[in-house]
This record gives sequence, structure tokens and C-alpha cells, in this order.
Amino acid sequence: MQNLSLFEDENPQSPLQRARFLVDQLNQWAHAYYVMDSPLVPDSEYDKLYRELTDLEEKYPDLQLPDSPSKRVGGAPLSHFEQVAHRVPMLSLGNAFEPEDVHAFEKRIRDLGDLQADKPIEFAVDPKFDGLAISIHYERGVMVRAITRGDGMTGEEVTANVKTIRNLPLILSSPNPPEFLEVRGEILMYREDFVRMNQRQADAGLKIFANPRNASAGTIRQLDPRIAASRPLRFFCYGAVIDRDQQKKLKTQSALMAWLAQLGLPVSSLSQTAVSASGLLDYYQRIGEQRKNLPFEIDGVVYKVNAFDLQDQLGYVARAPRFAIAHKFPPDEVLTRLINIEVQVGRTGSITPVAKLEPVKVGGVTVSSATLHNLDEIQRKDLRVGDQVLVRRAGDVIPEVLPFEGNVRPEISLPFYMPTACPVCGSALMKEEDGAVLRCTGGFSCRAQLTQSIIHFASRKAMDIEGLGDKIVETLVDKGLISNPADLYKLQFDELVQLERMGEKSVNNLLESIQKSKNATFARFIYGMGIRQVGEATARDLAQHFKTLDALIGATESALLEVNDVGPVVAQSILEFFADTRNLDVLNGLMAAGVVWETEAPVAALDENHPFYGKSFVLTGTLEKLSRDEASALIVAKGGKVIGSVSKKTDFLLAGSAAGSKLQKAEDLGVKILSELEFETLLG
Ligand code: IVH
Repeated sequence: MQNLSLFEDENPQSPLQRARFLVDQLNQWAHAYYVMDSPLVPDSEYDKLYRELTDLEEKYPDLQLPDSPSKRVGGAPLSHFEQVAHRVPMLSLGNAFEPEDVHAFEKRIRDLGDLQADKPIEFAVDPKFDGLAISIHYERGVMVRAITRGDGMTGEEVTANVKTIRNLPLILSSPNPPEFLEVRGEILMYREDFVRMNQRQADAGLKIFANPRNASAGTIRQLDPRIAASRPLRFFCYGAVIDRDQQKKLKTQSALMAWLAQLGLPVSSLSQTAVSASGLLDYYQRIGEQRKNLPFEIDGVVYKVNAFDLQDQLGYVARAPRFAIAHKFPPDEVLTRLINIEVQVGRTGSITPVAKLEPVKVGGVTVSSATLHNLDEIQRKDLRVGDQVLVRRAGDVIPEVLPFEGNVRPEISLPFYMPTACPVCGSALMKEEDGAVLRCTGGFSCRAQLTQSIIHFASRKAMDIEGLGDKIVETLVDKGLISNPADLYKLQFDELVQLERMGEKSVNNLLESIQKSKNATFARFIYGMGIRQVGEATARDLAQHFKTLDALIGATESALLEVNDVGPVVAQSILEFFADTRNLDVLNGLMAAGVVWETEAPVAALDENHPFYGKSFVLTGTLEKLSRDEASALIVAKGGKVIGSVSKKTDFLLAGSAAGSKLQKAEDLGVKILSELEFETLLG
């Protein structure tokens, strides 16, 4: 019990003695509740005694004891904070991120300190509290001053606000407290308390804080102590400024922490000791695993050489001690705001909602957008534009958007709905039987699908068209120069050179790599088709198994299921792809353009007696039943060739309606001219 001779009173019934008793009892309960995390009595019991105390204090105003909990409700607002110089500067810490940094830290200590060669180094280790640093002065055991870190040299005197912090003793519990003690530590808020506080703020139409750390700093740096008193601040101690005599007596940081705890100051149970770099790394791992379940936020752990004499030998560099270091966690969850939900159309028409985020750094990478997968996911997470959200990146995986439980939503916020038509081409959307995925039915008539398909087709693992970047593909599609992958092979120098930022040289290079890409492998070609569910490996298996495009196109479900790793879902997807005549048109166009691969096995299957076999065709005019590409593919499939212009060597001119100069030339040269009907008849 405190030594307060000033208030000693012989009469056991006196109001003063009763007040003393009440203050001690309430402080003991508060210490058990806030510091030890183990309440001794129900809240109602505390409240009852607290009311008795305040009644007594009201009746006898002179009787308010310096450590009365009623002092924590906060006095009148201040006009400003005083700037106060720190007696001893508040330094910062060097950072470690990787295990190597921790080994280097240990080695530096060994190199610089006066140590026995094989004696392991002991460290005091704590969590790195993610709050606001504070220095608190006690004179003869009574809290007299609290100063923010400020720039480390000078801070602001925020005593009135700090006095409201419930787990911080106004009076140290010692019969003979030190003349003077400067305690240092961190002010923070428990996550749970923060969320509740933000909700209260919102209900009252007041400021909403982004995270507990901002809330703590904002609370300490505002001028009305009553506001501070109404907010759930807490304090954790991580050290004290002590003189040489005290250092000699205590010897280690861990002994200092034990003493501070004895004085009633809140010391985290996670403050421990560890030996050698390996012990530090164990601690880092252990705390890292607990991190999510801790009631407050931490951003790493702090290692301090335990022995004060070794600390002294090591000294300081710039503004950080050599004897301590902060080992930071990669920030795996960062709070930010959902600015918008956009809808993207993928290569296969899949409609995906994408979160546009206020950019934040997560694990060293700036994240400003992240997939939200589908509507179900958005509904399950209950995300709305304007919400505060958490962004998580575990390792190298794509960022994930998570709801933030402390989010406070403005009244006007609306739930997100998926569009009913494709946002790019306006085509109808179709929901797949198996559930969540919504698709645009536009196929290549959808600019987005077309662009993505061509980008995929040209990609390195597919046809590998060097120099055909995403931007160029977008431009070609936008200008209508290509409407399917086969059109790439029809691009002309003249049209390309007119495009922005396309010089003659780059046009020639591009045309050359387009030509070069015609010599593909069957596996690359299959992959490049962009069949859903068919990745590189499956494409290779399919190529090996079926050997020819015709065989693949004609494959039945049971034939497909014979292929390695092809299950019913993949088989179904392949069947659907080839059942779509638009896809067959494109394939035929590609064949007509002269795309080939080594095991060009169609040759083996060709009928040498077919009238098209080995013949060269030119197409002109508009056909009724077939597209030009379809006709070309049919010719190629029978062993014929399709060429661009009529010459004496041309065997057939297939002429549709409105045929022009080519028809004239063919007539002039005596080239056999076929109508569409004749073509069909010959084809058989
Ligand atoms: S020891 C010489 N221990 O981290 C500096 N600091 O970069 C001694 N912090 O602003 C600081 N948790 O407020 C120490 N367990 C801990 C800490 C801690 C958080 C903060 C501190 C300072 C910053 C140092």
C-alpha cells in the first residue's frame, strides 16, 4: 500500500480512511483487469465502489487522492501542448528483415563487445508494439509528466491525456519508490476496443480512424482529456531510463522489466529472454505465429542485448543503439479503402469483378487492384465500394481482399451487383451450370475476349510472336485490323506503319516474327487456341496423343478421356470448343494462312485422288454458305493451297458474288473458275 503520510488519519471511520480504502481497492481491481488480464470482480462490483468514491469526493472536494481513479476522467481542454525537451533522447531502432540480418547483428555484437569466445549472448526480447511511443515521468512514485516521442529530442507534453489510460498507474506500487523514474513504452489500442470505438464514432457522426495506431495517436494528440478518457487506450512498457547505480543493481534489461512490473507498470507477458541468433529467430517465429491472435497489433519483435555492461560497450550509431534491433514482420495484412469494383472480361469471356484499391504496400509490393473472383465472394465478404478493407498477400500469391471487421460504412453505401450484359460488347451473359462463373457470350465479337485471346495466342508459350505486345494487340483490335488470330497473318506493312509509335523497322520486325511463328509445334498451337482448362501441359499431352488437328477436332469424349490428365471437365471443355463453328473458322483460317508444325500429319490422311489435292486456289467475292476462311480450311484439309493472287499457275478461282478484278484476270489467263455450288460438288 502507498506511503501517504499526508493523508494518515487515526479515525478508522473517517471519510479519508474510507477514501483511501476505496482507491486502493479500485486500483487493485483495475490492475488485475487491465494489467494482469484477470479480473477479480464483476464490473458491477467495481462500479458500485467507484460510485461510492465519487460521492465521497463530491462531498469532500479536498479529499481527492492523487491516485484516485476518478482522476482519469480527464480535466478541462487545453489550449495547446507544451514542447518539452527529452532528458535523454528517444532513439529509433535499426531494422532486420531476413534471418541473415539477425546473424549479422549477433556477429557485430561479438566483434565489438568484450565477450568470451564461446559464451552465448543473451537477449531481452519483446514484441514491437505498433502504437505511439511515450515517455512517462514519475517523481517519488507519482506520475507527473508524459511526453510524446516527437522528433526524438523534443516532444509534446500530453500528461492530462496519458493520465486517462486505465492500465497505467498514477502512483507506483512501492513503499519507497525511486526519487525519479522515466518509463518508456508504447500507447496502443486493442483491436476489439478500436472496432467498438470506431462504431461509436460513426454513430455520433464523428471521425472514423483507419487503424488502431492512428486512433491512438489521434487521441493522444488532441487537446481534450475527456475525449482521451472516453477512448480505450492502453500502455505497454518496454524500458526505462535508469542511472549507473540502478544499472549496476539490476544488471540486465530483463531484471529491469521485472522491476517495472513490480512497480505496477504494464509489461507484456511476451517480453522474455532468448539466447543467440537461433533463439532470436525462434522467438520471431513463435510471435509471428501468435500475431494474428494477439489482442493488439505488432509489426515485428525487438531484440536487446540483455546485460547493461555489454550494452554500454556497444554504444550507439547515429540515432540507434548498436545493442538493439527491430526484426520486422512482412506486413501481410494492410488496411486500405475499396475505391471501386470494376468488371473485367477475360479471354474466355469470364466476367470477373476486380477491386480497385487505394494503393498500399503489402509485403514490399504496391497493390492497387485485386480480383474479387465472383459475386458470391463479394456477397460472402459483404464488400461495398467505400469500405475499409484488408489486403493480404501471403508469399507470392495474388493479393486477397478481406473484409475489415472494424469497417464503418457510410449510410449511402450500396451492395454491388453484377452487370446483366457484357460491359465491353453488350452481349448477353451466361451463368455456367456448375455455379459461380458468369460469361460473355460474345466470343470474338467481344473486343475484350478478342484482345485477350490474341495476346494469349501470341504469348511466348504459345505462338511466341516477338514484338506483339499487349498494347499493339489492343490497337490492332480497336482499329478493326484483326478480328481473330488468323488475321494476324494478313497484316500488311502499309496498315501497320500508320499506327502510332510503329516505325518501319519495328513493323518489319513484327511482320517477320509473325511469319516466323507460322512454324509452330502442335502443342504450342493447341495451347495458343486458348481452350478453357487446357494449359501448356495438357496441350502437350493432347498433341502427343492425337498427332493431328483433325484427329483432335474429331475426338469423342471417350477418346479424350484416354489422354493423360484429361478428366471429364477438361474433355467437356474441349468438346465445347470444337463444337463452336466460330472456333473452327478461326482454325481453318490459321491453316489457310500457312501455320504448320513438324508432324504435319494431315498429309498422311490426305486422299491424293481428291480433285483439290495439290491444287492452288484463289478466293474472290462473297460466298453464300461459307466464309472465306471456312472455304480456305476445306481446301487445305484436302491437300490444296490457298494463295493471294491469280497467276498462270493458279488451278482454281473460287468466285462468290461481286467478284472483281481477280475474276477478270482468271478469265484472261484461262484459270478454271468455280462457283460455290461447283466447289461443294467437287469437295464431295
Ligand atoms: S526499444 C533505442 N522496444 O519502436 C530505442 N521499442 O524504432 C529503444 N517500439 O518508436 C526502443 N515496441 O516506440 C523498443 N518492445 C519495444 C518496442 C519499441 C515498439 C517502438 C518505439 C520506437 C520504435 C523504435
